[in-house]
Amino acid sequence: MYYLMVTEAGNFNQDIEIAWGQHKAKIFDKGQLLTLSLDKSSGSGFQSKNWYMYGKIDMHIKLVQGNSAGTVTTYYLSSQGPSHDEIDFEFLGNSSGQPYTLHTNIYTQGKGAREQQFYLWFNPTADFHMYSIIWNPHCIIFLVDNTPIRVFNNNEGVGIPIPSRQPTRIYSSLWNADDWATQGGRVKTDWTKAPFTASFRNYNANACVWPSASPCISKSLSSLPTNSWMNRVLTANDRRKLEWVQKKYMVYNYCTDTKRFPKAIPLECKQSKFR
Ligand SMILES: *[C@@H]1O[C@H](CO)[C@@H](O)[C@H](O)[C@H]1NC(C)=O
Repeated sequence: MYYLMVTEAGNFNQDIEIAWGQHKAKIFDKGQLLTLSLDKSSGSGFQSKNWYMYGKIDMHIKLVQGNSAGTVTTYYLSSQGPSHDEIDFEFLGNSSGQPYTLHTNIYTQGKGAREQQFYLWFNPTADFHMYSIIWNPHCIIFLVDNTPIRVFNNNEGVGIPIPSRQPTRIYSSLWNADDWATQGGRVKTDWTKAPFTASFRNYNANACVWPSASPCISKSLSSLPTNSWMNRVLTANDRRKLEWVQKKYMVYNYCTDTKRFPKAIPLECKQSKFR
């Protein structure tokens, strides 16, 4: 398979398709802004037209304001099929004034259960913030306003490689998950506050797009500039920021959940200091 390296200033009119809840997804400003909404009848969602293999994908999101309990806003990369790969940002709503939880997960070859959750150091409903996924042959990095919050290294050595065989699309959705999302499902969606709305803008993809006649990695990785997203690994400064986030804002880490994994923590957790 061949991929072409592209830089897309994504336009919602051209580069995405509404995947469900047709009338509840709206595009404004000549494709620069998109809103998803949710009411009792359904939520809504969109997906990229392009299929990607490796990339740095950015999205600016402003989450549901006020009482967002029971709602989940998602932004993720996923391949299709039973052994799928997936890199997830999910924003779990909360009662007014209570903190959103940013839930992350990584599936490789159909296997997930690698959740890490965070609070944010700002109010994600007051303004747009940038959420990015860097995915290259070395690692997957989740970033919030350019601050790395999570890294998943290529653990080929223990049989857990970086997803590299299946092209993925970008997906975003807003849906009702009040059976589990907020305070373990205890707080339900307040439908008197519907419709709920989340906004998206500045979708940007520096990525390899499939299919193409020319290979994305035509040269060896080492011939690309070291600052290319394709070669990006954590710098010393990134590591300091990641440590700060993990120390102050991480609220759940599967790697330290010995109740859930009583026999042994997952193999990839042992590989790096930054889990
Ligand atoms: C919602 O707020 C409660 C109380 O502050 C907190 O325990 C919880 O982690 C927050 N997030 C979710 C998704 O329930």
